Amino acid sequence: MRVVGIETSCDETGVAVYDGERGLLAHAIHSQVELHARFGGVVPELASRDHIRRLAPLLAQVLEEAGTGRGDLDGVAYTAGPGLIGALLVGVAFARSLAWAWSLPAVPVHHMEAHLLAPMLEPDPPAFPFVALLVSGGHTLLVEVTAVGAYRLLGESVDDAAGEAFDKTAKLLGLGYPGGPALARLAEQGRPGRFEFPRPMTARPGLDFSFSGLKTAALLALREAGGDEGARADIARAFEDAVVETLVIKCRRALAHTGHRRLVIAGGVGANRRLREALLQLGEAVGARVHYPRPELCTDNGAMVAFAGYQRLRAGERAGLGFAARPRWAMDSLARAPGSPAESGSD
Ligand code: KG4
Ligand code: ZN
Repeated sequence: MRVVGIETSCDETGVAVYDGERGLLAHAIHSQVELHARFGGVVPELASRDHIRRLAPLLAQVLEEAGTGRGDLDGVAYTAGPGLIGALLVGVAFARSLAWAWSLPAVPVHHMEAHLLAPMLEPDPPAFPFVALLVSGGHTLLVEVTAVGAYRLLGESVDDAAGEAFDKTAKLLGLGYPGGPALARLAEQGRPGRFEFPRPMTARPGLDFSFSGLKTAALLALREAGGDEGARADIARAFEDAVVETLVIKCRRALAHTGHRRLVIAGGVGANRRLREALLQLGEAVGARVHYPRPELCTDNGAMVAFAGYQRLRAGERAGLGFAARPRWAMDSLARAPGSPAESGSD
């Protein structure tokens, strides 16, 4: 079975072809970073318009790279949510129309499920069960995964997502969009230990996160430092240290709580080098295997959508001719199960 995947939930246009036997045949991403950079963040209307411009040429390019004609395809998978409504609508309408025109089944994909399954595109895919840390611009989730589609939410952020905290703190520090990678670069020049930021919600049991206080800590440190130019790098370093250590503490807890010995990291913040290193060290310390997708499959892409769609089509799922974009979409099966270490409030 060969499936086209289409991703347009935010500021990346992603198209890919996944083949059940041969794996990922081709994938391409068009990033809108340059388009939004001068506005300091994603402008939804510009994002939608650019997806419209890019989708058809990107599809032609990917089909050619994959050596695939329409007759070789068995389905079209598309991100139906969560994300920006206009951006989603472009991809949803395009994918649904393509499927209709080419007489193929279509299947909507949940963007976070696609992120979650992305590490399975790598040569040494994780076996079930595993614990997944999903860290993107919109979500921070710890999930127990026992099979494709069988997800149990262990913990989530009660306020900002990790990527959102990176982006907001980067803005405070005068860095451009996208903030996460820029902050990580600045932190490389920072001195560790000059500023000490909290590790939110680690002093009590539970697997929830809270990252909004860290940008306040960064703001206070910035004020305290006055005009000291070097302080920005030191603050970036303190911020990154705090996020990384907090995520490591919660992953350690999630592994202990579930008894699983595999940890999977996905989502844009999973591209962060220091987080990757720290979680690999955690894996060594507790005897767990740690799986990442390559950095380009951590951030938004069509490959993860093609793969998630392939799994759903293979399970017999088909969408009707109607379609919907769902800007908010809880992963239904992610209901917090009774007995999971729930907590509420923040430190
Ligand atoms: O998964 P993603 O591409 O899009 C969403 O679904 O949100 O994640 C984007 C987020 C942004 O907040 C971005 O700043 C962050 O991932 N990010 C990073 C890095 N690369 C991307 N954060 C920290 N370090 C990085 N290297
Ligand atoms: Zn994403």
